[in-house]
Amino acid sequence: MNRAAPPAHFFSADLLPWTDRAGRLSWLKLITLIFCLAPIALMTYKGMAGMWSAKPLTALIRETGDWAVRFIALSLLITPLRYASRWNRLILIRRMLGLTALAYTLIHVILYVIDREFALLTILFDLVLRLYLTLGLIATLILIALGITSNSYWIGRLGAAKWNKLHLWTYPAALLSLLHVFLVIRLNGFEASLISGLLVLFAGFRYLRQSPDPAAPLKLLALAILAGLLTAMIEVIFYQLATGVDPMRVLRANLDFSYEIRPSWWVFLLGVTLTAIALIERAWTARTKSRTA
Ligand code: HEM
Repeated sequence: MNRAAPPAHFFSADLLPWTDRAGRLSWLKLITLIFCLAPIALMTYKGMAGMWSAKPLTALIRETGDWAVRFIALSLLITPLRYASRWNRLILIRRMLGLTALAYTLIHVILYVIDREFALLTILFDLVLRLYLTLGLIATLILIALGITSNSYWIGRLGAAKWNKLHLWTYPAALLSLLHVFLVIRLNGFEASLISGLLVLFAGFRYLRQSPDPAAPLKLLALAILAGLLTAMIEVIFYQLATGVDPMRVLRANLDFSYEIRPSWWVFLLGVTLTAIALIERAWTARTKSRTA
């Protein structure tokens, strides 16, 4: 391949966030785009309605950080969902979700710099000396590299296999982001535990992809159970380290549905939903085949 000349599709229509690769309007992409922009609308509304706390900048740093992590998780959900449903068009929105995660991360970092009043030297020291910031910085750099290479030009230049390998770095980026978050949050580890559990589920699916039929319903069900259990363990470890609370109390909370359904159950539920989607898809395909035979 000629590396000097970018392929003709460098500026292809699929760069537009609402068209498919043929340049036609894609409702799936358009709805996803609206969903990706919704947090900005929500934050603006909160600001205008005076719903921010006494420290609006800190609140915004937290909110943009939260959305960055959520969008990383959503981008990682696409592959298991695509395999389970065999709805290949889902691939159209994976890049958009990943780039949205990057956008919220960059806004998060810019707000942090503004909050520190552009004291660049202090910021530099903080980034090196404070572990949670160092982890956040490394995650950000990985996300930037992934963002830069998220286009047809880089897929063409690297080739699909190398490009896919490079984009596995989304997992370390997600892991580092979560460590950054766990070190920042003090008491409520609900969302961080939930997203860590989802990461376990998606990484587990990545592992299953080495096997012949990764979306086999029984495999997905086993993965759902395992990911649910590991999520409970992550929550136990977080509360033990952060507050010293008795691990048995945290574990028991997983069986008490009167107050709140714990992250482990939500992770399990998503795994079961993927299993159900795979089962329905297979039953549907079998029915269509037997009808046409
Ligand atoms: C150079 C990179 C980064 C810097 C300087 C940075 C800075 C910060 C700071 C100062 C806070 C604490 C805010 C507070 O409670 O006072 C924070 C929290 C947070 N950051 Fe970052 N961050 C970076 C990268 C990231 C990345 C890559 C992600 C995720 C993709 C992320 C997600 C979060 C989240 C979710 C929180 C906690 C929000 C909450 O308390 O609900 N950060 N970050």
